Formats: sequence, structure tokens, C-alpha cells
Amino acid sequence: MSHGRLAFPQGVAVGASILSADFAELGNEIAAALGAGAGFIHVDVMDGHFVPNLSMGPAVCGAVRRAAPRAPVDVHLMVQRPLSFIEPFAKAGADWCTVHVEAQDDPRECAERSRSLGMKAGLAFNPRTPVEHALDAGLLDAADFILLMSVQPGYSGQAFMPEVLAKARLLRRSGWQGPIEIDGGVSPLNAEACRAAGCTLLVSASAIFGSGDYAAAINGMLA
Ligand code: DX5
Ligand code: ZN
Repeated sequence: MSHGRLAFPQGVAVGASILSADFAELGNEIAAALGAGAGFIHVDVMDGHFVPNLSMGPAVCGAVRRAAPRAPVDVHLMVQRPLSFIEPFAKAGADWCTVHVEAQDDPRECAERSRSLGMKAGLAFNPRTPVEHALDAGLLDAADFILLMSVQPGYSGQAFMPEVLAKARLLRRSGWQGPIEIDGGVSPLNAEACRAAGCTLLVSASAIFGSGDYAAAINGMLA
């Protein structure tokens, strides 16, 4: 399966994480974020085990798909056992699917499952998880993109951890050419540092949906 949504954006793009959207207005919130310049929609999935919070599942992903028929839908699985959830999210219309290297299922198997279902495969690293072991083990060959968490996963609205950017710089020095997604506390105040470190997919929830002007927030992260 191949379609235009699957491709990564050229250059740098901002992804709107719906975790801070008004869920009673989800379709309108997604349309507003895309109209304001968001390049993709980020869907945070939490299981109450890998992180101490619950969020949304495949049915919500399907609703996002219908609200954003042409934008990439980026699913971030913060779950302990992601493998069995990959196919339900693919069927719900996800384009990109990320699992954590700290989760219990084999990240390579998860990435292969995502690719076999026609999705781009992402591997995510918590703030305190180094990337060196994954580089040394060749694990990144299984990934189409890397997600670096810049907060402890579980909640939106936390403070950005700038030390995480060292991992983006290391990945670029090591020759990683694919997209690097940064997620957590990203805002117009730190987006330039993220871009300078080599991050290309900037995810934001509260800096967009908590602002009164989504376009100003998104442009502030792109400029
Ligand atoms: C955190 C999620 C993030 C979160 C970002 O566990 O993975 O995507 O929604 O929220 P902000 O941008 O408010 O830190
Ligand atoms: Zn996320």
C-alpha cells in the first residue's frame, strides 16, 4: 500500500498532538490545526502501564483519520506491549506508527510489523534512554524515523528537557539521515534549538491547543 500521506514532509514540519485539544470539538480542532499550518496529526496512545495515564485507542485514531483525510496520522504508542496494537491502528488509518525501545515487545519486530502493514515505522526513546546502544546494535536500520522524548511521557504541558537535543546531534553525527521527531514541551521558545540539533518533526500539544492563535504558534515553531 502506498499513498501520498505516507511520505514525510519536506524539511521541517510541526505535528499537532491532539492530547491537549478539546475532545468535544475534535474534528474542528484538527481542521483548525491543519488550517493553521500543522503538517501532520500526532495521536498519543497510553495504556496506564508504560505511562501512568490513559488516553485513546484505535477508534479515536479512526475519527482523526476521517477528520484529516489528507494529512499524515502519526500514532505514538506509549504502551507496554505494542505489538498486538499495531494492526488495529493500521486498520484505523494510521500512516506512521512509533513504539518505544523501552517497551516489552521487540522493537525490531514491531517496526517490521508496521512496515508490513504499509506504515512508516518509528522508534522512540525516553529522555534518559541513550541512543548509542541502538546505533551499535544496528537497530535503527529497522526504523524510518526516530522519536526523541523531551519530557517523561504521559502528559502534555510539561517542561522541555534541552539536554535531549544532544541525542539528535549524536544521531546526525552518526549518519542518521531520516526524520528525527521531538516530542514534549516543544514551543516557539525552543523550536529553533530543536531544528539546529537536527530535529525535523516537531510535535506540540499545549503550545498549539493552549494558545489563542494556532497559526502564530505553529509559525513560531517553523520560523
Ligand atoms: C507526552 C506525549 C506528547 C504530548 C506533548 O507523553 O507523547 O505528544 O502530547 O504535549 P506538550 O507539547 O504539551 O508537551
Ligand atoms: Zn507523543
